[in-house]
Amino acid sequence: MFPLADRVRLVSESITLAVTAKAAAMKKAGIDVVGFGAGEPDFDTPGFIKDAAKAALDKGQTKYTPTPCYPELRAAIAQKFNRDNGLAYKPEQITTGAGGKHCLYMAFMAILNPGDEVVLPSPYWVSYPEQIKLAGGVVRVVRGEESNGFKITPKQLAEAITPRSKIFVINSPSNPGGHAYNPAELKALAEVVAAHPNLLVFSDEIYEKLIYNGLEFASFAGLHPDLFERTLTFNCHSKSFAMTGWRVGYIGGPQVAIDAINKLQSQMTSHITSFTQIPAALALTDPRGAESIAAMRDQFEWRAQHMWQRLSTLPKITVVHPQGAFYCFPNISAYFGTSAGAIRITDAVSFSAALLEQAHVAVVPGNDCGFDTHVRLSFATSLGQIDKGIDRIAGFLKKLG
Ligand SMILES: Cc1ncc(COP(=O)(O)O)c(C=O)c1O
Repeated sequence: MFPLADRVRLVSESITLAVTAKAAAMKKAGIDVVGFGAGEPDFDTPGFIKDAAKAALDKGQTKYTPTPCYPELRAAIAQKFNRDNGLAYKPEQITTGAGGKHCLYMAFMAILNPGDEVVLPSPYWVSYPEQIKLAGGVVRVVRGEESNGFKITPKQLAEAITPRSKIFVINSPSNPGGHAYNPAELKALAEVVAAHPNLLVFSDEIYEKLIYNGLEFASFAGLHPDLFERTLTFNCHSKSFAMTGWRVGYIGGPQVAIDAINKLQSQMTSHITSFTQIPAALALTDPRGAESIAAMRDQFEWRAQHMWQRLSTLPKITVVHPQGAFYCFPNISAYFGTSAGAIRITDAVSFSAALLEQAHVAVVPGNDCGFDTHVRLSFATSLGQIDKGIDRIAGFLKKLG
């Protein structure tokens, strides 16, 4: 056997990837699969940002940059945090990473010691537990109940905190639940955290701009005077500017944490790609950035409503009204114990496999997110595809026996 490191075994194989790979193979074979798996906007990066990248290449921005990024980007991110979130980070309190995912990973690596606990609400984004384990941490899941729109309560949070708890992770708006906390609900959680002076917060705000139904966004670090010094705020260009492939993420936080992350990054990737940096700064400061976000957000809100309404009419399915991000997360457990041809449906994985095989619709089982009773459908696709896919799901459910 090839002598791999033990840490590789710590990381779970992604169930999601298996379904995605099967859907891709079916498409390649010419089968018309409706894909609800996408975790990225179906829009293209706005033209002015792409033009800025071409100009950056022409200007020779092709060499090493400082580890945190060029000063222009640091300043633009600090300006964004001040302007949009009321967070007074100084430019030196900002660093960047190769997407939100890399930012989170570096931060867990910089802060967790073996055995430190991380309080993680479920349903959660698939990578949190794996990153926490890689950094030596122990995941303590707090279940956000469907009956409470997947949101955890202050009481649940208080009960989950132990003397070993080092970080509380909050992701609002959320992947995969599509839920978002209102400012008062977040403030109530912030009060609980504030009462535990050793507890840090990772606030993953990457879906900040994709929030619906008139709900107001609030940054966790600004909710209590004690929390600014104890919170790391994560954001990225991936979802709001349709820039998933560019790999631009950023963190604002206490100086000592940012310095530690920079120290790690300097020995790993050095910095993010040079010619993405000035375009990323422009996206945050040019009014066209906010305009493109607003146009995409409006489309997503429309689709959210449409997908949710259509899913709500399906028999025996319950579905929380999405408040943000681009996901519906319906409960399909009423169909457990039924069969679809040779496949016996016992959880979200077998449901998704049967749906793909027999109705040619790809969804993401919630197992990797701590919910084996739910599947995730992304509405980052056209209304036509949404209708076609849900028609197929309706036909599939009728045949289950
Ligand atoms: C909640 C959440 N955090 C972080 C990320 C990572 O974003 P990025 O693509 O910028 O690495 C994702 C991506 O799907 C996400 O859903």
